[in-house]
Amino acid sequence: MGTEAKAAGRSPKAALVTDENVGRHYLDPAMESLRAAGLQVETTIVGAGEASKTLGQAGELYDRMLKAGLDRGSVVVGLGGGVVTDLAGFVAATYMRGIAWVAVSTSLLGQVDASVGGKTGVDHPECKNLIGAFHQPSAVLADVTTLATLPEEELRTGLAEVVKHAVIRDAALFDTLEEEADAILARDPKVLENVVARNVEIKADVVMADEREGGLRRILNYGHTVGHALESLAMEAGGRLGGAAVTHGRAVALGMMAEAHIAQARGTADAAVVERQRGLLERFGLPVRLDAAPDAERCLAIMRHDKKAQAGRLRFILPEAIGAVCDVDDVTDAEIRDALRSLAAD
Ligand SMILES: NC(=O)c1ccc[n+]([C@@H]2O[C@H](COP(=O)([O-])OP(=O)(O)OC[C@H]3O[C@@H](n4cnc5c(N)ncnc54)[C@H](O)[C@@H]3O)[C@@H](O)[C@H]2O)c1
Ligand SMILES: [Zn+2]
Repeated sequence: MGTEAKAAGRSPKAALVTDENVGRHYLDPAMESLRAAGLQVETTIVGAGEASKTLGQAGELYDRMLKAGLDRGSVVVGLGGGVVTDLAGFVAATYMRGIAWVAVSTSLLGQVDASVGGKTGVDHPECKNLIGAFHQPSAVLADVTTLATLPEEELRTGLAEVVKHAVIRDAALFDTLEEEADAILARDPKVLENVVARNVEIKADVVMADEREGGLRRILNYGHTVGHALESLAMEAGGRLGGAAVTHGRAVALGMMAEAHIAQARGTADAAVVERQRGLLERFGLPVRLDAAPDAERCLAIMRHDKKAQAGRLRFILPEAIGAVCDVDDVTDAEIRDALRSLAAD
C-alpha cells in the first residue's frame, strides 16, 4: 500500500482515512507500510457506517489536512469499505480542487463494487449520494484476506452484488458461484481472489464503456429499482427486511427476485433463470421472499422519486438469460404491483 500511495503523490504527506472497525484490525500494518514508503501520515478514524458519509465529516477532514500541511501533491488513502472509500475519494476530489487518492478496499461490496468506477461522494440528509464527484483513484487495492474479519451480514451484502454481476454479464461466473458457494462462504482466499478479480473486470468493463452513466452502465442497476424502494420503505418503518435488519444486499436480493419475476411474466426470461437466481441467493443466505407483500403504492411512489428515473419513465434491467439482460422503459405499474405481490407468494 505504501508503494502505491507514494507513487500516487508528489509530496511526502498523506492523509489516511479509516473507520473504527477496520482501523482496529488493519491500521497498524497500514501505517507501517505507509511510513516504510517514506510518507508522513495524518490519520483520521471515523465512526463505522453510513452516518460518516457527510459533508460535516468531509469538512473535518479538510481541517485536519490543512493543519497537517497537505498540499496539491499530497495523497489521500481510504482504508475501509464503501463508506470510507466514497468519503476519502470525495475529500480527495475536492481538497484544493482535487488531489490524488488510493482506495484500499476491505469489504466485499467495496472490492467488487464501490471502489471500481470512480464515483465518490457523501450523503445529503434528504438523499443518499447526492453530493459527489467522479474522481478516479490512482490505485485500488483489494486484499481478500481482509475479508476474514468482515461480519457475516456484510459478506452477504457484497454477495448480492456479485450475484447481480453474474446475472447481468457472466454465465461462467454464475456457474463458479454455484460450484464454489461453500468455499466462498468459508472465505477461502484463493476462491475469493478469483471471484473478486472477475467482478472487478465486469464492473470496470461496463464503466469504461460508459463512465458517466448514459447507457450500458445502467445494467448495474439490476435489482436496484425495486431494491432501493424496498430498502427505503423498510428503513422508514424502522423495520426488518427478509428476516433481519435492513441491509442494501437484502434489498437488492429481493429487488432482483421482483425484477426477474417481471421478466418471466412478460416472457423475457424463462422460469429456469428465475429459479437458478433464487437458488444461488438462498445459498448465500440472502432473502428471496417476504412474509407480507410490501405496500405497492408506496413502493411505486419511491421508485418514481428515485433519481435514476428518467423523464418520468421508470427503467428496468430485466434478465433474458443468466449472463444477459435488456434495458426497458415500458414496464407498467400493473406489472410492478404483480412483481411486488410475488415476493410474498409461496
Ligand atoms: N462509489 C460507488 O460506485 C459505490 C458503489 C456501491 C456502493 N457505494 C457505497 O458504499 C457504501 C457501502 O459500502 P460497504 O457495504 O462496504 O459499507 P461500509 O463501508 O459501512 O462497511 C460495512 C461494515 O463493515 C465494516 N468493515 C469493512 N471492512 C471490514 C473488515 N475487513 N473487517 C471487519 N469489518 C469491516 C465497516 O466498519 C462497516 O461497519 C455505501 O455508502 C454506498 O453508497 C459506492
Ligand atoms: Zn448496490
